[in-house]
Amino acid sequence: MLPLVTLIAIIPSLVSAWSSDNHTCALTAPIYSCENTTTIQDTCCTPTQGLVLVTQYWDTYTGLESQGSVLPKDSWTIHGLWPDRCDGSYGQYCDLSRQYDPVPSPNTTTGKSDGTPVEPWTGGDIITPLLEKYGKYDLLAYMQKYWKSQNSPDWTFWQHEFSKHATCFSTYDVGYENTPNCYGSIYENSTESSIIDFLNSVIKNQIQYPTFDWLSEKGILPSNITGYQLNEIQNALTVSSGAEPYLGCYGPTKQILSEVWYYSHSLGRPQDGFLKPINQTTKSNCNTTQPIWYYERTQGSEY
Ligand SMILES: *[C@@H]1O[C@H](CO)[C@@H](O)[C@H](O)[C@H]1NC(C)=O
Ligand SMILES: *[C@@H]1O[C@H](CO)[C@@H](O)[C@H](O)[C@H]1NC(C)=O
Ligand SMILES: *[C@@H]1O[C@H](CO)[C@@H](O)[C@H](O)[C@H]1NC(C)=O
Ligand SMILES: *[C@@H]1O[C@H](CO)[C@@H](O)[C@H](O)[C@H]1NC(C)=O
Ligand SMILES: *[C@@H]1O[C@H](CO)[C@@H](O)[C@H](O)[C@H]1NC(C)=O
Ligand SMILES: *[C@@H]1O[C@H](CO)[C@@H](O)[C@H](O)[C@H]1NC(C)=O
Ligand SMILES: *[C@@H]1O[C@H](CO)[C@@H](O)[C@H](O)[C@H]1NC(C)=O
Repeated sequence: MLPLVTLIAIIPSLVSAWSSDNHTCALTAPIYSCENTTTIQDTCCTPTQGLVLVTQYWDTYTGLESQGSVLPKDSWTIHGLWPDRCDGSYGQYCDLSRQYDPVPSPNTTTGKSDGTPVEPWTGGDIITPLLEKYGKYDLLAYMQKYWKSQNSPDWTFWQHEFSKHATCFSTYDVGYENTPNCYGSIYENSTESSIIDFLNSVIKNQIQYPTFDWLSEKGILPSNITGYQLNEIQNALTVSSGAEPYLGCYGPTKQILSEVWYYSHSLGRPQDGFLKPINQTTKSNCNTTQPIWYYERTQGSEY
């Protein structure tokens, strides 16, 4: 991780690809999200829901191996990039004009019956054709390899993540319900800009958290024979990432490791990828007394 002084020195040279109509964030001194919310002058330049989570999965199979979908060897996979509120609570499906999730979960904006219903998207895959339209084949290939769904096509998961979470980050706003249009009114389709911008951001932040490598450096490798104590895993990731992440486990006794969530504050826009590690606000649900299983992938499920 670069020291802060170096990061600040790089900032002025960053040119924002899309912002216009006076949302040129390169012209504003960046501030850390959630650290001084009263000073946010342009919500396009600092996220208002600024507790930023970089989240990953450890799956052992995709369920669609027969269709050629396999997991990347020696790597965890991407879950998403989430905008929690500064107090750790969160919203979802914040812009229903950008709802592309075929299976909204939850199915209302509040997750309760009194919330606004989130209608399922029935238009199929929009992300693959969009990336192809703009020639972003390298981004698409990376997503196909590292951003894997389980038991459903990857695009359904990408569109779920975009619609549920990206729409709650103010820095990708496109003018829904009095929010500013961060991409500027001259853009033919700001929604398309926001989608590609978000997908880029996910990758830009995810690659800074190589969970598999961080664990393997400490001798923690997937094994179907040896389990690990939660604190061994927790300590390895805390030392490497700079703060304590949340670890998620499943199974009746919560012994099967499957998730990690890294918390951070963002210096300016998450688009720029300068995250400052923050301790989790949600305590791990993994078993603290019995060994945790960090399972090997199923044979034929990784490549
Ligand atoms: C946008 O910036 C220009 C140049 O600084 C300024 O003249 C104009 O008043 C600004 N418009 C708005 C809406 O802030
Ligand atoms: C928050 O920002 C304001 C305006 O820039 C500044 O006066 C104040 O000292 C800042 N507060 C903290 C806690 O950094
Ligand atoms: C949401 O799902 C619940 C549980 O399946 C169901 O009872 C409810 O009718 C659904 N609400 C909407 C708005 O689709
Ligand atoms: C903008 O792009 C999105 C995503 O491709 C699409 O769903 C929407 O219809 C487009 N809007 C216009 C006005 O072309
Ligand atoms: C941890 O595992 C033990 C033994 O398998 C079990 O008794 C205990 O309830 C588990 N704790 C949790 C939080 O599931
Ligand atoms: C995280 O919590 C530990 C233990 O309470 C503390 O020593 C450490 O300074 C905290 N780290 C950050 C980045 O806040
Ligand atoms: C390891 O164990 C998990 C959980 O039982 C299983 O799904 C997986 O196929 C096993 N992998 C190997 C290589 O045996």
